[in-house]
Amino acid sequence: MKISVIGCGYLGAVHAASMAELGHDVIGIDVDPARIESLQQGIAPFHEPGFDALLQKNAPRLTFTTDMSAAGGATVHFVAVGTPQSADGSADMTYVNSAIEGLTPYLSEGDLVVGKSTVPVGTAERLSAKVTPTRALLMWNPEFLREGFAVEDTLSPDRLVYGVQEGKDGDTATAILDEVYAGILAKDTPRLVMNFATAELVKVAANSFLATKISFINAMAEIADVTGANVTQLADAIGYDTRIGRRFLNAGIGFGGGCLPKDIRGFVARAEELGVGEALSFLKDVDDINLRRRSRVVDVLAEELGDLSGKTIAVWGISFKPDSDDIRDSPALDIAESLARAGATVVSADPEGWKPAQDRIERAGLSASLTTTTDHRAAVTGADALVVATEWKVFQDEDPTTIGALMPGKLVVDGRNCLDSSSWKDAGFRYRGMGRA
Ligand code: UGA
Repeated sequence: MKISVIGCGYLGAVHAASMAELGHDVIGIDVDPARIESLQQGIAPFHEPGFDALLQKNAPRLTFTTDMSAAGGATVHFVAVGTPQSADGSADMTYVNSAIEGLTPYLSEGDLVVGKSTVPVGTAERLSAKVTPTRALLMWNPEFLREGFAVEDTLSPDRLVYGVQEGKDGDTATAILDEVYAGILAKDTPRLVMNFATAELVKVAANSFLATKISFINAMAEIADVTGANVTQLADAIGYDTRIGRRFLNAGIGFGGGCLPKDIRGFVARAEELGVGEALSFLKDVDDINLRRRSRVVDVLAEELGDLSGKTIAVWGISFKPDSDDIRDSPALDIAESLARAGATVVSADPEGWKPAQDRIERAGLSASLTTTTDHRAAVTGADALVVATEWKVFQDEDPTTIGALMPGKLVVDGRNCLDSSSWKDAGFRYRGMGRA
């Protein structure tokens, strides 16, 4: 089948290559010429394990362009543009609106437009008024991929969610999307068909639940810190209850990235618009707990070191999570910036995140006090303290004795509770975890 994918960011680029992997002829369209150039050359414009190989393997069935007219002639058009956070917390729909606007002149009768972007509930209904006059069909098909596992999550998802317009050719649309995803459905992947509103809500509800789980355990970490309890053991113990589950119960400096933080804020804003803001007021607490985690690290360092000005602090981690170069709303980078603002000299190390961080650090006017490197050992050399802010494996595998020999200050703040605390203590470090000693 001939498929177009509008928007070649994280979601769209991986989706385009994955659709080619399923055997379709795919055209990826984006307004950013540099991104298109890179994808066309088979080079991933972001760090994602396995993505370069997927691009290169499927190059014969995969074309990238900035020209929207190239969507003409495709039968299925995925809309995968970003919905960033607006100043008031709501989702900014500029890119979705302009993608639909730009696409409609090239739609033909019987085409299927499939929305994948994370949108406020009610969006698909609103957009159908623009798509229907072309006699094309519209569906909403949210994506649940995690960065770092994007290829795997796209080709082997837990489930497929199809949002169809009530009373409007839902069966025809479902049959077309089934054909697109035949290779995925053949693996017995659950496929749930529902109305537009439910499908839109599934996505934000899932991310809100995950965010709530993380903030719940971080709230327990706050209690653990004042009672001497150990939040990791607590998470292990409650996690054995399969109704609770152990995943997403890792306490630390909290969640970041381009999805969880903005999605809970956008959901709250939409609920308020709909007059049911109270239903989601708890998500404001989830957000507050999460942001408190970042200041907690600065507080722990101040407790241990006193005035931070003039201190040299190494931060391991810049990306919002390991195996990613994404620094959007990254707790690690936020903490490094706060420490620099508090007068410390900060060296942040990250295998991938150092590169995109350059621009942001410069714009924040912090280049003099916050530098970045790929070399985590160089970062600790001469440091008074080490903060572990992103749990890259290379940091977890590090030998504390080797690190101790490089650092005059023997203090480690384990912002992700990812180190073996006893081996760091044995190497002479004072160890401070998040909700565990
Ligand atoms: C998230 C969801 O997990 C995906 O299902 C969803 O498709 C995606 O958003 C999206 O909306 O596109 P992602 O942003 O890649 O995926 O990252 P996560 O793996 O969810 O991690 C989010 C943050 O939570 C990270 O900063 C991570 O360090 C933090 N986290 C995660 C914790 O602090 N504790 C945990 O136990 C788990």
